[in-house]
Amino acid sequence: MAVPGLRREDFPAFDRFTYLNTASAGLVPASVVAPAHEFEAELAQAGTTGMDEDTEVGILEDARHAAAGLLGAGPDCIAIGTSFTEALCQVAWWLRPGKNRNVVSTDGDFPSVTYPWHRIAEDTGCEVRLTGLLDDPAGFGVSKIADQVDSATAAICISHVQYLTGHVLDLAELATLAHDNGALLIVDATQSAGQIPIDVTAAGADVLIAGSYKWLCSTFGAAVCYLQPALLARFRPPLAGWRSTEHPYALDARWLPLASTARRMEYSTMSYSAAIALGRAIRYLGGLSLADVAAHNAELASQLADGLAGLGATLLTPRDPARRAGTVAARFPGRDGEAVAAELTRRGVIVSPRVGSTRFSMHFYNSSDDVERALAGLADVLR
Ligand SMILES: Cc1ncc(COP(=O)(O)O)c(C=O)c1O
Repeated sequence: MAVPGLRREDFPAFDRFTYLNTASAGLVPASVVAPAHEFEAELAQAGTTGMDEDTEVGILEDARHAAAGLLGAGPDCIAIGTSFTEALCQVAWWLRPGKNRNVVSTDGDFPSVTYPWHRIAEDTGCEVRLTGLLDDPAGFGVSKIADQVDSATAAICISHVQYLTGHVLDLAELATLAHDNGALLIVDATQSAGQIPIDVTAAGADVLIAGSYKWLCSTFGAAVCYLQPALLARFRPPLAGWRSTEHPYALDARWLPLASTARRMEYSTMSYSAAIALGRAIRYLGGLSLADVAAHNAELASQLADGLAGLGATLLTPRDPARRAGTVAARFPGRDGEAVAAELTRRGVIVSPRVGSTRFSMHFYNSSDDVERALAGLADVLR
């Protein structure tokens, strides 16, 4: 069944191919990207005569309020950044765990989730503990992560939905695990925000960051970062610049009065068109129910998972529908999953090759027919 409120005509890509690749980049509705393009055109043609400080502030505030609504947070707790990686690096280098401390993640997570900690470990000697996901996807979950956590854990830093395998982790369980051990919970929601309802307060996340260009259906160049209020009060951004201050346009180089809100993370001029698109995209998603989107994506994932099993595939994604969202990855005995992905893409079914597997990802604009087409294409490739 289609998600109520869906306008598939907003996604003309489906006239040309079957797009099952939101985990790489989401499709962006024209009504989201048009105002961003208009802003760029006006800037190119009229320079500062077409915009002023209020325009700049207004763009960022619009994106901030949209993100706050999406996550159930106060706008003061939201920073608008340029990418997931940039925002996490800011938080990681602030936390900068020392020699006898550790950070817990997984060996299958997106590299930007672990790399900042590996880099800090070079300087401080902290330990990066990675729960095994790749060797035993079926056994992966919060209880396995708990084996790595102890009183020396500074943070659990992990993706809500794993980009490679599609596992969904329970944020409230992770938060309890982190907080019981005196650690922070830092969540990468890049693969979940926009497809799973998230209430950051109920979830108990200390930091939650989501990039713009996947399930939020926006363009490249923006990210949302939530800082929990008590953490925000302590947070001193390692990177500071003219926009980190309470009154950026005062341009006073003599001292650094950091903004009292999460805006203190925003240190420079970002792509305003990316911020315009992000605000518009979140409001576009707000026209749908995220509970409906989550149910729809899970239903398509089940249809695909069943079909894949019928074709003899080995799933990396959990069999239990409650532990997955819209992403399903599989390997095919005797075949290279990355070559299978390339063959499918050649047949007009757009999917991703990932670490020897084929990754399919279904969002609200996909239909059951798209999944059928993918399975038919796959049967052809495997024949
Ligand atoms: C889980 C996850 N986090 C982050 C990113 C990308 O981060 P950035 O916004 O820095 O490009 C990806 C991209 O694939 C991802 O899958």
